[in-house]
Amino acid sequence: MALAARFWRFLPWARAVFPGPWLSRGVAGSRGLCCAWRLRGSEVMGNLGSVKRSLLFSALPYLGFETFQVFSQAAVVHATAKVEEILEQADYLYESGETEKLYQLLTQYKESEDAELLWRLARASRDIAQLSGTSEEEKKLLVYEALEYAKRALEKNESSFAAHKWYAICISDVGDYEGIKAKIANAYIIKEHFEKAIELNPKDATSIHLMGIWCYTFAEMPWYQRRIAKMLFATPPSSTYEEALGYFHRAEQVDPNFYSKNLLLLGKTYLKLHNKKLAAFWLMKAKDYPAHTEEDKQIQTEAAQLLTGFSDKN
Ligand SMILES: *[C@@H]1O[C@H](CO)[C@@H](O)[C@H](O)[C@H]1NC(C)=O
Repeated sequence: MALAARFWRFLPWARAVFPGPWLSRGVAGSRGLCCAWRLRGSEVMGNLGSVKRSLLFSALPYLGFETFQVFSQAAVVHATAKVEEILEQADYLYESGETEKLYQLLTQYKESEDAELLWRLARASRDIAQLSGTSEEEKKLLVYEALEYAKRALEKNESSFAAHKWYAICISDVGDYEGIKAKIANAYIIKEHFEKAIELNPKDATSIHLMGIWCYTFAEMPWYQRRIAKMLFATPPSSTYEEALGYFHRAEQVDPNFYSKNLLLLGKTYLKLHNKKLAAFWLMKAKDYPAHTEEDKQIQTEAAQLLTGFSDKN
């Protein structure tokens, strides 16, 4: 259970952009982004927080030369320490896969003005939404709630890459409940925020991977769907496999082997580009990726199937 909860969970974002017939194959079913959504490197502010906090605390005695200064400093330290303590606790719960506890903890602070806290709350809300025990009605409430938190996180801090990233993810989640026109309009917004997230943190492999998925999704869009999109928008979202490939490679450079699905998508994109040699190279890597999660296993299987398929053709 802990493992299943920890390495999650369905992220049907591509499907959310274009559900149903829009995306019946390929990444359409994108089963999840599992560990890619876990806290990684620079995203773990908790550790940084505790270092900062202990510095602040140890600095405190030296500030004692003026009483009012001690008081004001202490108040600041206290407020900072409180948020940082919550974040530390939250990151611990997240890493341990304690989804419900995390949500309970963070909803106590839903009026917070802190962007770091709010995007974590957005993430926790959508995590709860994805749990198998969550009813359809609850799920809908939760994904809209998550979007609200992510939006507020972004309002509080436009320079937080994580706020941009989770805002984009949360918008794609609500796509399940929106009309086709809103979904296409949202596709532009999603892209914009992933791009901003990457700009703010070029080391976040997940955002880069998601941009790749975005490109792949629209590169794969069949002509008749494109035509429908064109009836609604003068310039419907579009992309190419080359562009998708660029992102998948870049994600790999930033964080090699971070995610089985990135390897699979490298293989699949090369297949689309008719480069069998490189497709085989990446599909082998995806197939041999040590499976820690349900999703990894599905990726292994898919990679193996694709490999069999094209050795037949050779
Ligand atoms: C906003 O986020 C950035 C990046 O995480 C951080 O450096 C900055 O201090 C934050 N600003 C505020 C006002 O919290």
